[in-house]
Parts: sequence; structure tokens; C-alpha cells
Amino acid sequence: MNAPTKKVFVKTYGCQMNVYDSERMRDVLAPLGYAETPLPEDADLVILNTCHIREKAAEKVYSELGLIRRMKEARGGNMIVAVAGCVAQAEGEEIVRRVPAVDLVFGPQTYHRLPQILARAEATGKAVVETEFPAEDKFVGLATAKSPVRGVSAFLTVQEGCDKFCTFCVVPYTRGAEFSRPAAQVVAEAQRLAEQGVREVTLLGQNVNAYHGHARGLGGLVAELSLINGIDRIRYMTSHPRDMDDELIAAHAVNDKLMPFLHLPVQAGSDRILKAMNRGHTADHYIRLIERVRAARADIAISGDFIVGFPGETEEDFADTLDLVKQVKYASAFSFNYSARPGTPASDMKTQVPRPVALGRLYRLQALIHDQQTHFNTASVGRTLPVLIEKKGRDPGQMVGKSPYLQAVHLNAPEASLGRILPVHIDGVGRNSLSGHIEPAVHDSGEQSR
Ligand code: SAH
Ligand code: SF4
Ligand code: F3S
Repeated sequence: MNAPTKKVFVKTYGCQMNVYDSERMRDVLAPLGYAETPLPEDADLVILNTCHIREKAAEKVYSELGLIRRMKEARGGNMIVAVAGCVAQAEGEEIVRRVPAVDLVFGPQTYHRLPQILARAEATGKAVVETEFPAEDKFVGLATAKSPVRGVSAFLTVQEGCDKFCTFCVVPYTRGAEFSRPAAQVVAEAQRLAEQGVREVTLLGQNVNAYHGHARGLGGLVAELSLINGIDRIRYMTSHPRDMDDELIAAHAVNDKLMPFLHLPVQAGSDRILKAMNRGHTADHYIRLIERVRAARADIAISGDFIVGFPGETEEDFADTLDLVKQVKYASAFSFNYSARPGTPASDMKTQVPRPVALGRLYRLQALIHDQQTHFNTASVGRTLPVLIEKKGRDPGQMVGKSPYLQAVHLNAPEASLGRILPVHIDGVGRNSLSGHIEPAVHDSGEQSR
């Protein structure tokens, strides 16, 4: 391999799948001599890996492009500017029209062709827009790329795309139809990660539990991955209530490597709104499902996503959402005001909720969720939890790890503890994290206590 001669700056917006994609882009660029820089003004190639989910996310890209354009001018035009990800997929040529400084536009399904795309732009001196969904399997193209070690916890995309077409959502248009990677390919990637010192993998997919690359679905894949030496923790996200099958629920009861955490978005608690959203399930279905999951693993931490102010949402509908939250008792949850997205059926609905009303409801929901999160975290105080030590903390001697329930844990520990799972006695709780100290009597067990 040549010594790095060029610099690339990558900025990632949106979900974990974009985080994974950005890492793969770095991997395909490394053999071309690109080393990473944290400073966009120093970069020969700037990539914005974008998100289209809400208006704010998409608009952020254009303000960032304004800054990048000026940096490019300051370098006498000597910079390649690329827009990748879901905004690229949704807007294509329009991006180049709005910001002519952009040289490359490519979607989530085409970035494995980055070397060819770059070569074409360099040869022609013209902008290249690649947003079709190519027939070839992008993951096969990426499988040969070597990744440098990037920590003890890694994302692994196993499923992409969505066929659910919730009426508010752009993902089926930006990521395309549901696709699952074959189990053997996923296992091989997890093995490589384990060899590099990764101890926790988070399996990613827009509908990860709709995974069908294994005869026994995601539960079957988890069972296989748990046989890999070195992989001690397995997580998955994001799941859809309609795809939560018995095999996966049972895995939570029997597989100690599968962490007791489930991110299961419901979006709303009113059946009328769920129907208008085309979610394909009722509030009751969701609550029963949570009960079944808790019957398999009593201590499982539940997290969710909510949209507040969906077109036609009344005060009664919103009260149903608050009721559902009270019944489920979340460990954490994300909530957003509805954002009308171009091309989605909900954006044409006549009864848009006035902004101040939607905002007021969002604050009420967030206050409730915040209380539940505090309650969940406070319940950890006094317990000893197995904590995977992931990185150095801000203060000298401090390390940061993760509990089985996805809580960040701060503790004093030697740097050599990186990558180990240590029993940590929890004695403090902050806004978004716990603090504790290593339980002196016991050593790295690698086991998960319940
Ligand atoms: N596939 C996942 C989530 C994908 S998007 C699922 O089905 O749950 C992540 C979250 O963004 C969604 O769960 C939803 O809460 C939120 N979201 C999606 N579209 C939105 C929109 N138009 N306005 C506001 N929030 C939205
Ligand atoms: Fe979007 Fe619904 Fe698909 Fe999730 S299930 S990605 S919210 S369309
Ligand atoms: Fe955003 Fe695309 Fe992910 S729209 S949330 S980056 S799938």
C-alpha cells in the first residue's frame, strides 16, 4: 500500500447505519492513499454523509455546505466535495444545482464504488451524481476492504432498507427495499472484528428484526454469532413491532451474550394515529409484545421512538401516547415533533397540527420520559453491573464503559482495562450516565449478571 498522501474529512449525520457506512467509506479510501483529518479545511476530499429523516437534518447539510464551499475557495478550488447518504439519495442533481461547489453525490447503496466515482470526477472535471440502486451487492464489494481497529464496540449492518412505508417516513425511498446480508457474510465480518479486539457488536438494520439472511431469522443469527470467541456482547437495532418473532424473544431468555436492551419504536399510543401512520399494529399489540419480551427477560431495558403532532393528532390521541408510555415504563426514548417530508403520504394530509401545540405536547412527553429514565438509572445504584470498558474518560485515570442496559458508566480504572468486562459497583447517577467503582473481590468474569 502507498503511504497516505491525501487527506479525507468525513462528517456523519443521522443514524448508526450512516456511522457504519462512513467507516466503510474510510476503508475503501485508505488503499487510494487517503488518511483521515479532523479538519475540513485541510482535506483534499470532504464527505458529508447525510440524513433526510426530518427537515432540520436535511437543512443542516446545506448550511454546512456553505462553510465547506468557502473553505474550497480558500484552497483555490483544490478540494473535492462529496454529499453521500440519504439527502444525496433523495435530492440527487438538485444538490449540485443548489451548491455548484459539490463535485460528487452518491447514495447509501453506491459508496462502495467511490474509487470509480472519484476517478470519473477527476477525469472529466464534472460533477458525478450516482443515486441509482445498483444490482451488485455492495457488501460483497466491501468485504475485501481492511478496517483498522476502531475500538472494542462495533456496528455491523446486517439488514438495510424498508418495505413498511410508514406514511411519515422517507427511509423506504432513500434506502430502498428490505435486504438482508447472508448469515455467513455477517459471521465472517464479526469474526474479523473479534480478531481485532472487538468484544461487542451491534447488529444494525432499518428493520433489523426483519432479518431473513438466516433460516431462523435474527434470533438464529444471534445464536450463531454468540459462538464466536471474543464476541461477548450482542445488541441489535432498530426493531419493528411487527417483526418481533418468538425465536428472537426466546433468545433474550437463553442467550447470555444478547444484552438486555430492546429499542422498539412505537411512534404513538393512539390506534387511530397508528393506523394513519400505517404502522400495521395497535397500541395493545405493542404492550402485549413488551409483556412477552419481559416474560423472557424480566430486567430488559426498553427504549422507543415517538412522533408527536402527526397530522390529525388530537389532545385525546396524545393522551393515549402518554398512557402507553406510563404502561411500558421506558429506560430511555427518543421523541420528535412530526416533520412533513416531501413525497411522503402524510405530508399531503390536510390536518397538520399547529407548531406551538405540537411543541407543547413534545415537552410534556419528554418530561415524562425523562422521569422514567431517571427512575431506571437510579434503580441501578447499589447494584454491581458487568461493565465493558470502552474508552478513556475526560479526567486522568478515568475510563468510560457500558452497562448491559446501554448506560454509560464512569469509573476509575487502569488504561489496561480497555476491552475488559469488569464488575462495577454503581454508586452514582448523573443526567445520562452512571458512576461506580470496580468491585475489588471479583475479577474479569466476562459474564453478565442478571
Ligand atoms: N426503522 C425505524 C426508525 C427509522 S427513523 C423504525 O421503524 O422505527 C428513526 C425515527 O425517526 C423513527 O422511529 C421516528 O420516530 C422518527 N421519524 C421518522 N420520520 C419522521 C418524521 N417525518 N418526522 C419526525 N420524526 C420522524
Ligand atoms: Fe420508516 Fe416505518 Fe420503515 Fe421505520 S418501519 S424505516 S419508520 S417506514
Ligand atoms: Fe437518516 Fe437515512 Fe438513517 S434518513 S435516520 S441517515 S436511514
